[in-house]
Amino acid sequence: MDLLKLIKQRKSIRTFTKEVPPRQLILECLEAASWAPNPTSQQPWQFIVLSGNSLIKVSEIIKESYSGAAGKTAPQLTENSENARMLEQRKKENFSEMLGFLKEHNTDMTSLGEGNFNFHRAPLAIIFATYPYKDQNHIKSTVSAMQTFMLAATARGLGTCWANAVSICQDAIKKELELQDELILVDGISVGYPDLEAPINNVPRHRLPIEQVVSWLE
Ligand SMILES: Cc1cc2nc3c(=O)[nH]c(=O)nc-3n(C[C@H](O)[C@H](O)[C@H](O)COP(=O)(O)O)c2cc1C
Repeated sequence: MDLLKLIKQRKSIRTFTKEVPPRQLILECLEAASWAPNPTSQQPWQFIVLSGNSLIKVSEIIKESYSGAAGKTAPQLTENSENARMLEQRKKENFSEMLGFLKEHNTDMTSLGEGNFNFHRAPLAIIFATYPYKDQNHIKSTVSAMQTFMLAATARGLGTCWANAVSICQDAIKKELELQDELILVDGISVGYPDLEAPINNVPRHRLPIEQVVSWLE
């Protein structure tokens, strides 16, 4: 398939079928992820696949620790910044459109909200972790691996969704999984086969006109 078409075809999937993707397929996508750019080919990442009991356990830990942990995330922009206001406004508009669409399609909003704590009930989830190092390059590389993974997964008919709760609740998750304290859990990705009929998987998606976000300096 044309790569540009695939890039646009990837979308956040928040309702999955119960079918568990085969291990070989996931390994193939993770192998693709490992070809993401990274400094001096250090490959500063660890991919931790959660299935079965480990997935249930981590979902429980997230539910327990989320509200306490979320408050600790430092804001990146002050509320008074013009840019912060612009992003807030975009968020509000997108959210309102999504809610309107879901209401029209009688979606259970409580269950949808809980999805942020339980990987949207996907049969698998992957934690993308990295090691602290001199600069931020290890984090940038791991994020790049995450996008590469999602594209490879989309190409194989899998659905994915980013899970922010993993970084927010990382202290509790590391403790539960007995991971090295030093590891940084960049975030998680829910993985499974998409329920293509579910309204939440068919919410209208947009991007800004490209002229609005490009400055071409000569
Ligand atoms: C850093 C980051 C964190 C995200 N966290 C979540 C999340 O916790 N739960 C969720 O359902 N989607 C999450 N998403 C997915 C975004 O909501 C989604 O990418 C956005 O709405 C655009 O939709 P699309 O992925 O279908 O293009 C996250 C995406 C990114 C990049």
